Amino acid sequence: MDQICRIDEIEEGQSKGLDWGEHKLIAVKHQGQLYLYLNRCPHRGIPLEWQPDQFLDLERQFIQCSTHGALFRIETGDCIQGPCQGQALQPIEFSLRDGEVWADPIPSEPN
Ligand code: FES
Repeated sequence: MDQICRIDEIEEGQSKGLDWGEHKLIAVKHQGQLYLYLNRCPHRGIPLEWQPDQFLDLERQFIQCSTHGALFRIETGDCIQGPCQGQALQPIEFSLRDGEVWADPIPSEPN
């Protein structure tokens, strides 16, 4: 397992972009829960943000892709509106140990 970040690096109601080896991740803390996803929009396969650490819509109710505005549920990663509706962000499973966030490496994708 790799350490990804500390849980207190992400504030309640905020999002943060994280580098994890070759991967980019989205971390969101929402109602006391941490959620982690690959930072890759299912629509075009590109990162979601246009400003660092800004992944949420104005009301902070959804994760939003800045390119075409797709909205994703924070709790599940499901796209509920936009060009990739019905698809989802890839969740990253993690465990917490002493305030640190750990996850198994993602297998590399075949080229
Ligand atoms: S690239 Fe994300 S909605 Fe089009």
